[in-house]
Amino acid sequence: MVQIVPSILAADFARLGEQIACVERAGAQMIHVDIMDGHFVPNLTMGPPVTESLRKVTKLKLDHHLMIDDPDTYAPVFIKVGADLVSVHYEACRNLDRTLHMIRDEGAKAGVVINPHTPVAVLSEVLGIVDYVLVMSVNPGFGGQEFIPRSLHKVRQLEQERSQRDLQFAIEIDGGITTDNIAEAARAGVNWVVVGSSIFHRPDPAEAFRDLQRRAEEALTVKV
Ligand code: DX5
Ligand code: ZN
Repeated sequence: MVQIVPSILAADFARLGEQIACVERAGAQMIHVDIMDGHFVPNLTMGPPVTESLRKVTKLKLDHHLMIDDPDTYAPVFIKVGADLVSVHYEACRNLDRTLHMIRDEGAKAGVVINPHTPVAVLSEVLGIVDYVLVMSVNPGFGGQEFIPRSLHKVRQLEQERSQRDLQFAIEIDGGITTDNIAEAARAGVNWVVVGSSIFHRPDPAEAFRDLQRRAEEALTVKV
């Protein structure tokens, strides 16, 4: 089963509640919230007040992707105001094991993210304590970038390790997903597919969501 996770980075920020309700009606179960601090990545997005407002208008799980230098300070802040899942970058954490445990102790699901240049092998010691692994399929910081095909090789490696070691973490992919590559991502073993522009920059985001969902499901049923 593959879940499409709409990223509100590509939504119209003046109509966030409305846009979330639209993908919720189309079947979304989770919303991806990109937090950028202008240091870890060269862009700025939202802070805790936005999460607090979102929490009031939706029951969907709020998946927070922290692209920030100091996740130890801010993860608990986002969890307090409504984040259900929080992922931190391997590249931003000096004490990753401690940070992941802290996120779980604060009451959220804990994820670890790897940038395109980071190999899967560095996660070996934390795969047993994460709820999900997010593979970046673009360099983080901006929506609408081109998909990096090599990232699927990392998804396959993670899938293999998960079954070999009988682990339970979900595999998420983020960046450049379109109707052209979603089938391949699903076949590689991804469970959650983050999609920004290919949903919210379409004339009908609900239909775009359903189309992606359909293509992902078909990819898993049709033999190739
Ligand atoms: C990029 C963000 C992504 C972004 C994906 O740094 O982490 O979540 O919203 O957007 P698209 O689907 O447009 O590549
Ligand atoms: Zn993201």
